[in-house]
Amino acid sequence: MSAEKCLFPGSFDPVTNGHMDIIRRAARIFDTVYVGILYNPDKQGCFPAEKRVEMMKKACEGIENVKVIAHTGLLAELTKKMDIPVVVKGVRGVRDLESETDMAHINHHLNPDMDTFFLPASPGLGEVSSSMVRQLAQFGADISDYVPKQVLPDVLAAFVNNK
Ligand code: PNS
Repeated sequence: MSAEKCLFPGSFDPVTNGHMDIIRRAARIFDTVYVGILYNPDKQGCFPAEKRVEMMKKACEGIENVKVIAHTGLLAELTKKMDIPVVVKGVRGVRDLESETDMAHINHHLNPDMDTFFLPASPGLGEVSSSMVRQLAQFGADISDYVPKQVLPDVLAAFVNNK
């Protein structure tokens, strides 16, 4: 299996420092990291997909080998179409590992030419999630430790009327 490129998929609603940790670490291993803004039918979604792409591009500025893409279909189809052999997922603990293992099996079944690599969240980032960021922002709490500084104004602007 050649592994010069990988896909890091997610909702990124919005991107967090936990996501950026995985992106930076993957970018040290793979020649090209595609960050895929995908649709999760289990989640309602707060930021429109175009805004998530815009924020992710801002957050990844300066990381030379990262490309941000969007896709509305199946992850397995995207990896097939782009001939990407590795999907990278960050895991924050056993709860993530359980659901991510199921998804890895299903994705591999749909596209046997791809496999999923898990990266454990770095210490101190295991508790960070987009939903936690959204909730803190909604109540006007300080989220600057949890989101990349380039996108902080965008995230705050979305909740400005909710304070
Ligand atoms: O950040 P998330 O919400 O945990 O990411 C989940 C995501 C978007 C990667 C997942 O829902 C996904 O792969 N969506 C695309 C549709 C798909 O392929 N679903 C089957 C997964 S087994």
